[in-house]
Amino acid sequence: MAKEFKRYLVTSALPYANGPVHIGHLAGVYIPSDIYTRYLRLKGCDVVSVCGSDEHGVPITIKARKEGVTPQQIVDRYHALIKKSFEGLGMSFDIYSRTSSETHAETASAFFRKLYDEGKFIEKTSMQYYDEEAQTFLADRYIVGTCPKCGNDRAYGDQCEKCGSTLSPDELIDPHSAVSGSVPVKRETKHWYLPLDRYEEFLREWILEGHKEWKTNVYGQCKSWLDGGLQPRAVSRDLDWGIPVPVEGAEGKVLYVWFDAPIGYISATKDLTSEWEKYWKSEDTKMVHFIGKDNIVFHCIVFPSMLKAHGDYILPENVPANEFLNLEGDKISTSRNWAVWLHEYLEEFPGKEDVLRYVLCANAPETKDNDFTWKDFQARNNNELVAVLGNFVNRALVLTQKYYGGKVPACGELNDYDRQTVSEVAAVKASLEANIENYRFREALKDAMNISRIGNKYLADTEPWKVIKTDPKRVETILNIALQITANTAIAIEPFMPFSAAKILGMLAAEKFSWERLGAMDLIPAGHAIGEPALLFEKIEDDVIQRQLDKLAATKAANEAAEMNQSVEPQKDTIQFDDFQKMDIRVSTILEAEKVAKTKKLLKLTVDTGIDKRVIVSGIAEHFTPEELVGKQVLVLVNLAPRELKGILSNGMILMAEDASGKLRLLQPGETTNNGAVVG
Ligand code: 2FM
Ligand code: ZN
Repeated sequence: MAKEFKRYLVTSALPYANGPVHIGHLAGVYIPSDIYTRYLRLKGCDVVSVCGSDEHGVPITIKARKEGVTPQQIVDRYHALIKKSFEGLGMSFDIYSRTSSETHAETASAFFRKLYDEGKFIEKTSMQYYDEEAQTFLADRYIVGTCPKCGNDRAYGDQCEKCGSTLSPDELIDPHSAVSGSVPVKRETKHWYLPLDRYEEFLREWILEGHKEWKTNVYGQCKSWLDGGLQPRAVSRDLDWGIPVPVEGAEGKVLYVWFDAPIGYISATKDLTSEWEKYWKSEDTKMVHFIGKDNIVFHCIVFPSMLKAHGDYILPENVPANEFLNLEGDKISTSRNWAVWLHEYLEEFPGKEDVLRYVLCANAPETKDNDFTWKDFQARNNNELVAVLGNFVNRALVLTQKYYGGKVPACGELNDYDRQTVSEVAAVKASLEANIENYRFREALKDAMNISRIGNKYLADTEPWKVIKTDPKRVETILNIALQITANTAIAIEPFMPFSAAKILGMLAAEKFSWERLGAMDLIPAGHAIGEPALLFEKIEDDVIQRQLDKLAATKAANEAAEMNQSVEPQKDTIQFDDFQKMDIRVSTILEAEKVAKTKKLLKLTVDTGIDKRVIVSGIAEHFTPEELVGKQVLVLVNLAPRELKGILSNGMILMAEDASGKLRLLQPGETTNNGAVVG
């Protein structure tokens, strides 16, 4: 028997306030959590949904330093942006809080202090990198060096973003400080650790035995962490941005962001209601954490160990983490601007909030990584929302206006087909509920959409526009049923597409129905006057999609150019004008070209320099065939001292440009000119 709960506490991962929210975040965390919460509310459950900005951590301080502003300015900016864009998309958190709040500092400090006082931490000193120039310990992100796995010379002390390897600062070759650029030294520092190994048994029992129903990806990750054996984890950092470690002798130390962030769920609930304790301290509360897969270890292993160590709080009942969403075949990346940003979408697609909600749910990465493409977005809008849902609702309403002046006709006697349709609609409820309650939101959305599919088919099969001529009484029944199905649609889609649900209710001139009414066929009484029909969704044309694709193409081109720039050689030492004047560079034409025998790289070129005809040996055989060179005008450094190569005297140098990939290109005059023309 599944346990009955009296109330629900829904948490959604607190987004870092160092950048805007993108579709990956939405599909992974926020759309599912909002569907779940709205569903529970419609059912009349006691539910609170909390979220807020995660405002600590090193990436925020790095961004602030880069922009020359304070970390507080960064988090103020992104907190406001994220909050507003969440509201724009209809996220219905009961509170959207922030971890730089007073309540949070108090709550997180008290949490730490209790564990500290009860001896739940271990203290350890270790050697960590220290920047003597900037006089600061360096968090892993602040140490850059060469990746030992792939040779990327911009790898961080915790990760190489090029090959994706997880690293420790000690593994980096040639480490240096991202703060000052200097070579850091090792210095002793003290930190507090949560000995996760002491919670291994509890976690095994609780998750591996007690929560076999968790999603396979979540359960699997927990099992592999537990099977690998847990180690103590540092819960403090040497940093000046964060919540100060509330013990003596901890100057310059703050709580590790992953220690304070999940406590943010508690402080947000405190800020929401004076009755917060009943949500956090009663076994009658079902707590569900919605997160992305990169947060699994923190929500299933670390935070539960913290909660267990504390002792006053309940544990999550479920942690339905999603996998990742890609964009047009590539990993979404904030630093590479490879994303569809929510705030931009809301500006560029006003009134189409539900389209995004729909597409991201229909395509959610529930069991594996998935791809968002603009073509799929367009197809789902045009073929599903417009052609099925919008079309059905519109036909039911327009026909009612047309035949009955907007007054709901009475329902007569049902025939077998009516009865079958009615029972198909009624059957959706159980499936929809089971799917939502088991976090299968894609399937649940199909169920919700099914109601309008049934309605569409019903109208197509019963053809009221034809029957009206022969049997108008029958049409009254048909349209009554169609309107009841329309009202059912409004109930079923509300968790997924709240704006459209409200629009349908507006057009029906009806109040919001409770979830329990789903399946009923007496939602809209006969004689009731409905409102004016309007289109629920509109077709998205190719040019709109093309604009988005062009925008992404521009991002890709900018990224490629930036990558090329990154590998540009640094500038050489300054020379004087006289030094430059010494070089005699002339436009010349290559007359003959042949490979130098027994070499791979050398070509023997005969060139007309305008001064003379001479031989130059050039190491370019791997880049050009002799045939493609003959007849080309090039630039030649003609007064370079001659030197012998493989027994041939080379008299000058052909000028080339080498790009980041090592590819050579000839330098040529913009248009053909006379040989011997002076370059300078
Ligand atoms: O991954 C992230 O975006 C984190 N800021 C999530 C934190 S969730 C919770 F612990 F606050
Ligand atoms: Zn690497």
